[in-house]
Amino acid sequence: MALKNSPILGLQSFLLLVVMFMLPSLLFTKPNGEPFSFLENLQGSHQGQKLEGVCKLKRYLEKFGYLQYNDHSTHANDEEFDDQLESAVKVYQLNYGLNETGTLDSRTMEMMLRPRCGVPDIINGTTRMRSGKMKRHQPGPLSFHIAPQFAFFKRRQKWPYTLTKASLTYRFRSSVEVIDLQTLRPVIAQAFAKWAFVIPFTFSEAQESQTHWNITIGFHKLDHGDRHAFDGPGGILAHAFAPTIGWFHYDADENWSPNPNTNQIDLESIAAHEIGHVLGLEHSAIPEAVMYGLFSAGEQKRELHSDDILGIRTLYGLDR
Ligand SMILES: *[C@@H]1O[C@H](CO)[C@@H](O)[C@H](O)[C@H]1NC(C)=O
Ligand SMILES: *[C@@H]1O[C@H](CO)[C@@H](O)[C@H](O)[C@H]1NC(C)=O
Ligand SMILES: *[C@@H]1O[C@H](CO)[C@@H](O)[C@H](O)[C@H]1NC(C)=O
Ligand SMILES: [Zn+2]
Ligand SMILES: [Zn+2]
Repeated sequence: MALKNSPILGLQSFLLLVVMFMLPSLLFTKPNGEPFSFLENLQGSHQGQKLEGVCKLKRYLEKFGYLQYNDHSTHANDEEFDDQLESAVKVYQLNYGLNETGTLDSRTMEMMLRPRCGVPDIINGTTRMRSGKMKRHQPGPLSFHIAPQFAFFKRRQKWPYTLTKASLTYRFRSSVEVIDLQTLRPVIAQAFAKWAFVIPFTFSEAQESQTHWNITIGFHKLDHGDRHAFDGPGGILAHAFAPTIGWFHYDADENWSPNPNTNQIDLESIAAHEIGHVLGLEHSAIPEAVMYGLFSAGEQKRELHSDDILGIRTLYGLDR
């Protein structure tokens, strides 16, 4: 664990320095507007068209696991809405319960514009969402281009777990001060408690004197050194890494609150979601589930859904 945690400490002092020196330039290069607003130009677009913004749509669908161009592909970086992109849009539509038109119709746009978790919906071809139930190499319009395995939890990354020793510790480490610890502590403790109620884990904050811990929680902005840069206000809200990395990062540029008004994002709901990833769960297709990947300002979803509970208990072999 020492090896795992110490680079992050070094990284953060480094980040702090970088941020201090770059502050003047950051003020002018801060992204303006919603990161996903490029989609608004694309309403109604479909296969065969060439439109400004299509290339960004490709990057968007790549980021969330729907698209992967191979090295020889001619359309990877252009504005052409090709058939590979159309297939990716259809898989997105399937996962989010939309009509699989392959067109960026208004319902699809609405979904894609919503703020969301930065963790991809499909990881190495694996997903708990609807497309994960498809057969491999299924012919027809739903055939999928990213060499999918479509196994439920192919790698089953999880924390080593025995009934007598399932206790994990966490610590707060932020490169940007957003919410003070007195406010954050009970929020995080309540989110952990929801999971601890359904699996025999205990979660506790590491003592100041402890040099090793399992989960690191903090606020970071834009590029923060883990190769998954945040995107300023809106767009991606947070992300977390699968076991046993244990990093859970809030995007410091969002308007966070423990009691959100309609413009704010709920700290505890997002904590419940990201802790699910820290424990090894992927996104769910069920909008009411905590592990659903999209999230709106003002929304509160702090209670686990039966799908979340089934997912985590299955992962840890508790419902056999
Ligand atoms: C799907 O298409 C049908 C028929 O056009 C329409 O009635 C329905 O509302 C659509 N569903 C969604 C989720 O867009
Ligand atoms: C995806 O697969 C590659 C190669 O098989 C592996 O190195 C990588 O860790 C996997 N990523 C995840 C998130 O499982
Ligand atoms: C969790 O952290 C403790 C120290 O707090 C350490 O002894 C243990 O090995 C860690 N567990 C895992 C699975 O990394
Ligand atoms: Zn997520
Ligand atoms: Zn991060």
